[in-house]
Amino acid sequence: MTEAWKAFWDNYRNQEARTDDDLFIQVGRTVQGRPISHEEFSLGVRHVVEMLALEQTDVVFEYCCGNGLVSRELARHAGFVIASDFADHLVAAARQWSRRPNVTYHLWNALEPLDEIIDERRPNKFLMAYALAHFSPDDLERIVRNAIAVRRDGPFTFLLTGIPDDSRMFSFYDTAERRQRFAENQAKGSVTNDGMGRWWKAAEIVALAERLGLHADVRPEPAGLTHYRMDALLRRA
Ligand SMILES: C[S@@+](CC[C@H](N)C(=O)[O-])C[C@H]1O[C@@H](n2cnc3c(N)ncnc32)[C@H](O)[C@@H]1O
Repeated sequence: MTEAWKAFWDNYRNQEARTDDDLFIQVGRTVQGRPISHEEFSLGVRHVVEMLALEQTDVVFEYCCGNGLVSRELARHAGFVIASDFADHLVAAARQWSRRPNVTYHLWNALEPLDEIIDERRPNKFLMAYALAHFSPDDLERIVRNAIAVRRDGPFTFLLTGIPDDSRMFSFYDTAERRQRFAENQAKGSVTNDGMGRWWKAAEIVALAERLGLHADVRPEPAGLTHYRMDALLRRA
């Protein structure tokens, strides 16, 4: 899966950013090609801050940070943010446009062990925003196991937001043309599925969490965000 997605992101709207709007367009945080509204983005950030119950003492590890749009907001609420992404141009854009004193950006594949990039600052909270669609259930298990490995003791909190919700996919594929396109992607086994990626069942995430000794709270995105995505909060008390 990684290779298909790496090729996708290396080529997706890969143009130098000059404005904040360009940053939204670069990472596909758009509706019909235009950046999502300021209200929607702020609501999404507030939701993340609340779900993670962020405090100034927290060290957050952020997977698939893109160009740092979310990372730089987290930086206002957490003590430190270790942000990572595998797309060179997005990490470069993050370093240029989303630089903050308490954020570091790393070129890194989310499937690798975290030890490669973390130092004495040990993350206690983990976030993957709008990216789980890029991974298979086996990938997710590997990612969570690697996170648990750096957080052996004490509370463990891993939030995944913006997950395409299989039970509501027809709110997204809401025209015959869209459904036809999706069917074609499925028939040819397309991994990237026009950038939408994999639709997840809540039960898959719950079962995976249980296997790893975690509790999963999976729920639709709050009102004001999309009507076809969900969030999952994995926790160990
Ligand atoms: C839709 S963007 C979301 C970016 C950011 N989280 C946000 O909400 O603005 C998905 C990101 O996932 C990254 N990504 C996908 N697969 C990855 C992998 N295996 N390792 C690291 N990053 C990955 C892409 O490069 C892209 O930046």
